[in-house]
Amino acid sequence: MNSEEELKQVTQDVSTCTKCMLHNSRKLAVPGEGPYKAEIMFIGEGPGFYENEQGRPFVGAAGKFLEELLAIVNMKRSEVFITNVVKCRPPGNRDPQSEELAACSNYLERQIQAINPKVIVTLGRYSMANFLPKAKISSVHGQAVKVKGRLVIAMYHPAAALHQQSLKATIEQDFARLPDLITQATQMPEYIEKAPEEKIEPEQLSLF
Ligand code: URA
Ligand code: SF4
Repeated sequence: MNSEEELKQVTQDVSTCTKCMLHNSRKLAVPGEGPYKAEIMFIGEGPGFYENEQGRPFVGAAGKFLEELLAIVNMKRSEVFITNVVKCRPPGNRDPQSEELAACSNYLERQIQAINPKVIVTLGRYSMANFLPKAKISSVHGQAVKVKGRLVIAMYHPAAALHQQSLKATIEQDFARLPDLITQATQMPEYIEKAPEEKIEPEQLSLF
């Protein structure tokens, strides 16, 4: 299966998933969206009210702010991949529970493998904890950290900035640094190159 097919398969698997309790209360699962060749992946926490209604990530107030943040660096949401650590809405927007995070993590893992992004931006602490389990958001936000040969940048959750004005400038500054951090990512010696378009399959290789 190529990356595009695998990504579609994840979307399909998520839409019918019953691996944790969250499937009982969801209206629509929210697998995530964006091009399979996206260079940047944004990972939020979980769907909220509007996301659950529409089956799309970041379509409410936090989503509107995320689009404004992307505009700071001339990026459109259609260019990036956006998803969450849990794909179904926790009732009343409560925090996701550890069993739910564990049950859902394989979908995110498959999405990361398929897309192989240059940079992963985590939005909020549950997403950050996935890559930097011991980190504190107040000290690591906006910094590029290498995790398994990939750049991971933790940022505050856009919803946090909506509720806390003091964080707004911080998130904006962190976003403004993204282009530089991406340049840095491509210069990493152990950076995992994206598979070329015309990938030679192992079967073909064995002919030689
Ligand atoms: N907040 C999130 O973490 N994810 C969404 O998809 C929407 C709001
Ligand atoms: Fe499945 Fe994840 Fe939804 Fe739980 S949150 S039902 S594991 S897709």
